[in-house]
Amino acid sequence: MSIARRIQLWADCSRATAVFVALAIAMSVAAPSYAAAAAASDASAVGVHGMVVSESEDAARAGVEILKHGGNAVDSAVATALAVGVTNPAACGIGGGGFMLIYIAKTHAFYALDYRETAPLQARPDMYLRNGKPNEDLARDGVLAVGVPGEIAGIDAALRRFGTMKFQQIAAPAEKLADGGFAASPHLAGEIARLASKLKSDPGLSQVFLKPDGSAPKAGDMIVEKNLAATLRSLGDDPVANFYHGEVATALAAFMKAHGGLIGAADLADYRPVWREPIHGRYEGYEVYAMPPPSSGGVVLEMLGALESGHLPGLGINSPPYLARLIEVMRQGFIDREQYADPSFVSVQIERLLTPAHIQELREHALHRKSPPPPPAPAHDHGTSNLLVADKDGNVVALTTTINTVFGAKMSVPALGLILNDEMDDFAVAPGVPNAYRLEGERANEVRPGKRPLSSMTPIIVTRNGLPVMTTGGSGGPTIVSGVLQVTLNILSFHLDPASAVEEPRIHEQAAPDVVIVEEAMPAATRSALEQMGYQLKVVPALGAVGAITIAPANFRGAFDPRKGGGAVGY
Ligand code: DON
Repeated sequence: MSIARRIQLWADCSRATAVFVALAIAMSVAAPSYAAAAAASDASAVGVHGMVVSESEDAARAGVEILKHGGNAVDSAVATALAVGVTNPAACGIGGGGFMLIYIAKTHAFYALDYRETAPLQARPDMYLRNGKPNEDLARDGVLAVGVPGEIAGIDAALRRFGTMKFQQIAAPAEKLADGGFAASPHLAGEIARLASKLKSDPGLSQVFLKPDGSAPKAGDMIVEKNLAATLRSLGDDPVANFYHGEVATALAAFMKAHGGLIGAADLADYRPVWREPIHGRYEGYEVYAMPPPSSGGVVLEMLGALESGHLPGLGINSPPYLARLIEVMRQGFIDREQYADPSFVSVQIERLLTPAHIQELREHALHRKSPPPPPAPAHDHGTSNLLVADKDGNVVALTTTINTVFGAKMSVPALGLILNDEMDDFAVAPGVPNAYRLEGERANEVRPGKRPLSSMTPIIVTRNGLPVMTTGGSGGPTIVSGVLQVTLNILSFHLDPASAVEEPRIHEQAAPDVVIVEEAMPAATRSALEQMGYQLKVVPALGAVGAITIAPANFRGAFDPRKGGGAVGY
């Protein structure tokens, strides 16, 4: 299938999120411009010295410029993250947080940086209950949805530990894009159009992202974010002092107070990113490194472990028996995911979950499942941004960052140009109540002051004989887990190059609701074979977006997912 067609599918999928039918009609008018932009975009590339992959081609170019000016993979990754926060502000930015998995070649060491948002100090497990009933909307839109942002603290921590450049040097491309403007990507234009009515009711969002007559910009129209540029500049070379203790903190806390939010000066002053011990598992002679909880990296490792020695190549890529194997393993992995949470609050038995004995148990459960009752269909959302960098010295960074759902809390602090996240929705609003991704929460993931919500974001780096051979990560809520799994298998077991690996049609199964989501690009015969096996399918235009880089001496191959657009830039 052509890249243009896949981009169109992505646009169609975005449409499916909220007001399914009405917006479908409106967006189908915009489809030709998606196709045109896709034809011109550079979603896959080859590099000799290094590679940057991002859902924003402007941001990937910013990252490569940093590499060309002598920066390393960490400098480049944080520059790319800041730039994509400007060019796809619906997905991520300085109001959000993320995870960074880093491989430093000189010491052959992995590092996992958690700069996810935390619940405010005044947050309580029952904060979303009204008259005894959970009100999920409060966790998605508006001030109560907002977690304490970690983005700037994480970027600063990574730069100070492994970077070679100062904050203003790496923020320069982002500042230029914000100040001088950038052409809206087809993806961003589509998201703005889809959410125009919500953006309209926020003064900051409407001023920046809507035209004066209230209409949405088209792909290619210029978007300027002057206030965000000024905020980035105001952070100087000590961004933590300024963001968490200085003028930005004062403005953010004052905004929160004026709007009835919970985040105050103490929340910002208390925020700390956490260096965690990376986790790793094995798959067919490869070592797979991932983020520990509160990421779902362990779930991908469990799934890969359960699929090992399954002779997958013999089953054939995306053959019905192969997909059935994946479905069963994904279901069990997502059942285990309920035990994952912030390890500072809950004892997550991650070592036990990754033992060969537990993985064997998972494999056996996967082989003997009973048919479940038919479930409701899950929702989709296309925020979040993954980016990947590999440099000439062998360093690798896999970074996923988010403000959660598209345009986060749908609220901004206008003077700062900062879009507020709605990461609180990743907590269990109440036990058994599904969040925006239809993930049901358990007590382990209940709201507590200072706690980080469980995340599906799972950047990974794979090594063979001690050296990185590939990296991947994605966006799309829980479909990150299944997407990262399938792209990894496509590369390691089916030997596809990154462009083909990310383009292959995918499936998703998350146990609850127990329905198999299948992309419509999956051949009809395969879909009916799965139905004959007893699976209930929900066919969607496209699932989440995944990027990948394969790494060999002087040979970097990168691709971003044509479902979302973006760029791979090698040099
Ligand atoms: O951390 C998480 O799991 C979510 N906040 C990710 C959200 C996401 O990927 C949005 N896009 N679908």
